[in-house]
Amino acid sequence: MIGIKNGWRGMLERDTISMDLDTISGILPKGGTVLGTSRTNPYKKEEDVQKVVENFKQLELSALVAVGGEDTLGVAARLYKDFQLPIVGIPKTIDNDIAETDFSFGFDTAVNIAMECIDRLHTTAESHHRIMVVETMGRHAGWIATYAGLAGGADAILIPEKPIDIEEVCDLIMKRHGRGKNFSIVVVAEGAEFKEGTIVTQEGDVDEFGHVRLGGVGHVLARLIQEKTGYETRVTVLGHIQRGGSPTAFDRILGTRYGIRAVELIMEKKFGYVVCLRGNKIEEAPLEKILGKIKPVDEEIYRIAETFFG
Ligand code: F6P
Repeated sequence: MIGIKNGWRGMLERDTISMDLDTISGILPKGGTVLGTSRTNPYKKEEDVQKVVENFKQLELSALVAVGGEDTLGVAARLYKDFQLPIVGIPKTIDNDIAETDFSFGFDTAVNIAMECIDRLHTTAESHHRIMVVETMGRHAGWIATYAGLAGGADAILIPEKPIDIEEVCDLIMKRHGRGKNFSIVVVAEGAEFKEGTIVTQEGDVDEFGHVRLGGVGHVLARLIQEKTGYETRVTVLGHIQRGGSPTAFDRILGTRYGIRAVELIMEKKFGYVVCLRGNKIEEAPLEKILGKIKPVDEEIYRIAETFFG
């Protein structure tokens, strides 16, 4: 068994490492990836797609396990569709926005980190009587914001699925203050859009998958909240802190279960599938079913969180 370094870039450069027992020994408590990662999209250039197909043969791969989010798995789905390469996918992203699966691994760890940060921010919020705006990751879907916000007792949670109505947010905060609560925690996902259609980005450049770099919506929101309510407001952008450190037990177990099922699929010669979690069962779905799709936050969970707004 070999490991492909740095995602699809490794398939273009035939950059591999041996994945023997020594390589994987001790990786369970580690965050990130021992293989490295990249934002390389072989479908950007026709010749790169051909190179991947060629290298697949050169490396004499009998199967490839693609581990990643919508972009990585999207390439896997296309390679299977276009060339029937023997590929199996595993959903791994903190964003938890991959269709067909209840959870992707990495998400639970990110939620726990964000929740702990919200707990810590409560200290300043309460002592200094401030509004604390916490910005989480979440490009197209607000899973981390919703789960961490619900677990951390947020007073408002703003996500890409529901455009921000600033008047409504300020009303919630004012009402809360009206009943004697002189602090609030507002959680916002980086991809949340204002009702007027504004999305806050860091720079104009897009990556190979066409994504702009998000980040900064928390600052815009905090300025508006302070202006409109008159309450002192501060911002914390959690950024890559959410991706760091040791994975939770849930993620370690989920990643392990996914890995085992992926190997079983290969042994069964069942290619073109992505493993998934449904209820507490590990199953699989055709890769094409996740292509071009984003799994939005579950309405029911958001409604529960909403019960505690304001
Ligand atoms: O994996 C997706 C994601 O976590 C998004 O939520 C976020 O916008 C992006 O990654 C950040 O990527 P980068 O590390 O390239 O800044």
